[in-house]
Amino acid sequence: MSLIYLDNNATTVIHPEVANAMQACHQQGLVNPESQHQLGRQARRQVEDCREQLGMLLGLHLSDIHADHLFFTSGGTEANNLAIQGYRLGADAKNRLVISGIEHPSISTTAQWLQSQGVDVQVVNTLTNGQIDCEHLESLVNQDTFLVAVMLANNETGVIQPISDVVSICDRLSVPVHADAVQAIGKLDVHFRELGVGSMTISAHKVHGPRGSGALITRHGHAPHPVFHGGFQQSAVRPGTESVALATGLTTAVSNYLGSKDDHASKLLALRDRLEAGITTQLVNAQVLGSDAPRLPNTSNIAFRGVDRQAMLMALDVAGICCSTGSACASGSSEPSPTLVAMGLDPELIEGALRFSLGIFNSEPEIDEAIERICAVASVL
Ligand SMILES: Cc1ncc(COP(=O)(O)O)c(C=O)c1O
Repeated sequence: MSLIYLDNNATTVIHPEVANAMQACHQQGLVNPESQHQLGRQARRQVEDCREQLGMLLGLHLSDIHADHLFFTSGGTEANNLAIQGYRLGADAKNRLVISGIEHPSISTTAQWLQSQGVDVQVVNTLTNGQIDCEHLESLVNQDTFLVAVMLANNETGVIQPISDVVSICDRLSVPVHADAVQAIGKLDVHFRELGVGSMTISAHKVHGPRGSGALITRHGHAPHPVFHGGFQQSAVRPGTESVALATGLTTAVSNYLGSKDDHASKLLALRDRLEAGITTQLVNAQVLGSDAPRLPNTSNIAFRGVDRQAMLMALDVAGICCSTGSACASGSSEPSPTLVAMGLDPELIEGALRFSLGIFNSEPEIDEAIERICAVASVL
């Protein structure tokens, strides 16, 4: 039986062009961008070219002394940690961190840890449509707030967050906003300067790049304090030898994906709508969560009322469908999805909710086959 991969929010297959570009870097051999000899200088040029190319693609201000920064990291988790912990370290007397209730664990768990260290962490309520409650956010942001973290789009429901409203609320008190753009890159128009946020996280492996590569982007004057120590690379904000291959993989992946962004978005949207219509017309107990809000074109969280999500996930696995019960970082746990809980949904819906996340290599026949297998599995559980 052929496998149908519908877990692209967890990770995507590496694109052959990305793999080739990285392989070419590996074949160069001795490449430490800090070395002063010609091989090192060549590697440094490659890393800086990647930084500049990514900066241009994502709308950073690059040209003068007010330039923004892009720090390469080992992925989205590290970039989010660097932002949240790094801003805390530089926060002087300010002690309040405000986060949404639907953040990825790399933000929510870091916030919990900071809370155990005495930080005043406040969590914004979520509306039933999956968007954050901006009125509640407004009541939580005060002069003592060093950072507000709200993601651009949720990894579990795909619901797009009202980031311009968040920025206007925070601007009134000059509080910086950190935006996790990991799931949004390539699927939404993301222009860093136009967003008006202070910092933003990206990751390569959601857009057919390598796992273990990402970046923290910060506006001029918003570089965080370092969390790691021991080197002076990347202005000592993120020390450690930079990998030319990983920087190249990230840059090639983002550049390729953005090059066909509109085509990808319309293909994904058509496939997602086909999947949702196919399932909900056949199964009366199936309901698409977050469908009242704007959503990413590739993400569908479907609740099968009365079904145990873990049992369904396993049965689907046997039937050759790869999907998930929520964030990949939380999979394996039987805890209900914090995002769906934050939305205040009926526990029976949460209990039966599965995430199907589509990718550019999925096809119509695959989706039709998936509908058949999903409906067959759900009707016997
Ligand atoms: C919204 C979001 N933020 C951060 C991450 C973590 O990124 P990485 O896997 O590169 O550490 C993920 C990964 O699933 C994610 O979905």
